[in-house]
Amino acid sequence: MRIAIIGADGQLGSDLCRVIPKEEQVPLTINDVDITSKEATSAVIGKIASSIVINTAACHNVDACEDNAGPAFAVNTFGVRNLALACQGVGAALVHISTDYVFDGEKKSPYTEEDIPRPLSIYGISKLAGEYCIRYILGKYFIVRTTGLYGAAGCLGKGGGNFVENIIKQANTKTELKVVNDEVLSPTYAFDLAKQIYQLVKTHYYGLYHIVNHGQCSWYEFTRKIFQLLERDVKVQPINSSAFPAKARRPKYSALGNANLNKMKLDNMPAWEDALKAYLIAKGHLKV
Ligand SMILES: NC(=O)c1ccc[n+]([C@@H]2O[C@H](COP(=O)([O-])OP(=O)(O)OC[C@H]3O[C@@H](n4cnc5c(N)ncnc54)[C@H](OP(=O)(O)O)[C@@H]3O)[C@@H](O)[C@H]2O)c1
Repeated sequence: MRIAIIGADGQLGSDLCRVIPKEEQVPLTINDVDITSKEATSAVIGKIASSIVINTAACHNVDACEDNAGPAFAVNTFGVRNLALACQGVGAALVHISTDYVFDGEKKSPYTEEDIPRPLSIYGISKLAGEYCIRYILGKYFIVRTTGLYGAAGCLGKGGGNFVENIIKQANTKTELKVVNDEVLSPTYAFDLAKQIYQLVKTHYYGLYHIVNHGQCSWYEFTRKIFQLLERDVKVQPINSSAFPAKARRPKYSALGNANLNKMKLDNMPAWEDALKAYLIAKGHLKV
């Protein structure tokens, strides 16, 4: 099995490269293929002729997408369509990473794959349109929605850090942190997601999947847990998201449930608290 990984130097891409055996992977960065070019995408995917292509590429600075929709649709919609067409050309399956931001946040329990999307932002619309392009073009696909990703490599599309690292850095310079308490999600460790994706793609159970670490919390609760695990006494004040006005609307509630993984008896995702602890140990923040 040969697996091409688009966005191989990104947050999730790096962890996919750690999880997938070297002899099976073909890591591709934007220097190898820019998916906004239909010709380049079909040439590269055609030449590699892998049986699986995993797409982690995205334009996902959510507020920047709101201001400038062109790049969002170029990467998240038309880029994904280019990849789906290229995969169709060589008979490859496409694994595509999507987002909780396809939902409006009005639900009070975890969103499953059966819930109807209603995005609140250009980013969410462009990602949902990408999902529809895949479903229109391909039969062999895995669409994987996840939320609040953090991983060892940090998120390139958001300046290279991640929420956990940013919070730890802030605590080193500030006496009190203010963190949003009215956005609830399922924070997900990229390494767990990468392992679960690799397991899933070997099954050929194609379709739409939510894959997150189990449970839910607000960003404030997540922050409290970071300092509890690190045994650090940092003052954290819960605040309302209206205190940080942003260009793009975000869902107030976007915890996801791994319903389809469960149905297939494939759900190996740990609880978010255990995942956070594993991350802190892996990064050397926490000694065991
Ligand atoms: N981060 C989150 O909190 C979060 C939450 C839910 C869902 N997701 C989804 O998860 C996926 C992975 O996120 P991530 O955090 O790993 O992102 P990331 O660190 O920004 O990685 C994305 C990778 O894609 C590459 N890329 C961007 N545009 C490209 C293009 N036109 N052609 C080819 N490659 C391109 C980037 O390269 P350059 O940086 O060099 O451009 C980077 O290597 C994305 O689809 C995102 O929508 C993320």
